[in-house]
Amino acid sequence: MIRINARGIVITSIIALVLVLLFVAQWKREEINAWRGPQSSSPDTNYQNTKLEEVAEFKDGAAPITAPVVPDYSAANSTLGFQAILALSQGTKWRVEGLHAAAKAAGISVTVPQQPKWSEPFIKAFQEFGPVEAHGAAMAWLGHLDLLKFVIQNNWGSALILEDDMDWDVEIRKQTPPIAKAVRELTKAKKGDTEPYGKNWDVMWMGHCSDPPPFKDEGKIITFADNTTAPVDKYRGLNPRLKDVIKDGQRIVHYSINPVCTFAYAVSYQGARNLLAHASLGKGGAFDLMLMHACQDKVLKCVSVNPEVFDPYFPAEGGASEVRAGDAGVDFDHEVGKAMGHTDNTLNSARCSAQFGKTCLE
Ligand SMILES: *[C@@H]1O[C@H](CO)[C@@H](O)[C@H](O)[C@H]1NC(C)=O
Ligand SMILES: *[C@@H]1O[C@H](CO)[C@@H](O)[C@H](O)[C@H]1NC(C)=O
Repeated sequence: MIRINARGIVITSIIALVLVLLFVAQWKREEINAWRGPQSSSPDTNYQNTKLEEVAEFKDGAAPITAPVVPDYSAANSTLGFQAILALSQGTKWRVEGLHAAAKAAGISVTVPQQPKWSEPFIKAFQEFGPVEAHGAAMAWLGHLDLLKFVIQNNWGSALILEDDMDWDVEIRKQTPPIAKAVRELTKAKKGDTEPYGKNWDVMWMGHCSDPPPFKDEGKIITFADNTTAPVDKYRGLNPRLKDVIKDGQRIVHYSINPVCTFAYAVSYQGARNLLAHASLGKGGAFDLMLMHACQDKVLKCVSVNPEVFDPYFPAEGGASEVRAGDAGVDFDHEVGKAMGHTDNTLNSARCSAQFGKTCLE
């Protein structure tokens, strides 16, 4: 009798567990679908189901509980005027937690789609036959390709793609409207064009490690006032030419000259397609170098924001030991968070504000 009861309990528990799991899976899917919105009614469901079962979504923490009556489609909205902000992440705790905190502090919504589990033989094949040899760089390539496919599958009009250690100013929603206006002016957007940044561009570099502004005969520069920029003498970037061009309280937008590091880049509707087509050729070395060359060779129409509005957060301790591309895989999560790190070119860092209540420009 007792044995039968025990077995009964086990079987009942298993059934209950399965039901709970099914419920959670269904609920997650509904949540994702609700978030995807009306534009996404037609994408290939197979793709979504296999790749995006789990999505960690950051809701706009600063938004009031009652949704605004008038929907905001401007560059000041919680997705900065893009249809989505996506982070490329392999799930490292300090990066994702900081991202979450920074998004909340600045009132923006960042989505971290779960990366497919690339099998080792697949990565190895990509290393051997693809554009890059390093393991981390191969993973980065695959990650970017996957996010671009995700943007296209969802039929999004535009998207901003971030690396997961990015930081930005708490005032970023005030920074984007003048940037959008300048981009429209630079690219001669049509008056009736409803996209905040227009659609006459493929890729917009909003986070990079430098892009020297054009000389007079090289191209136009649109200059505008922005009192949330860091002092010019504190500017840090691979190429210091920006310091010769801007004054304190200014930001500029221009066609990309020599943009380095894909910290944060936006793609327009057509840009996502053009970039995926070009990237799928699998040429040009590391992903950011491929993108730089595609911009320089005018395969893609690229615009740069200068100084950039996204920069990586450098943790205080052990930061140097973590290779950016993720080759090291060192777990130093517990070290990060003890002491405040810093973020270049960012007057009031959202990560430092959220996690330490301070600014951290050095
Ligand atoms: C923000 O604006 C863009 C462009 O108009 C729009 O596609 C996007 O859906 C808006 N985001 C939100 C959260 O309403
Ligand atoms: C920037 O200018 C606006 C409007 O002129 C003002 O409200 C704001 O306090 C200024 N911010 C900074 C950081 O000086």
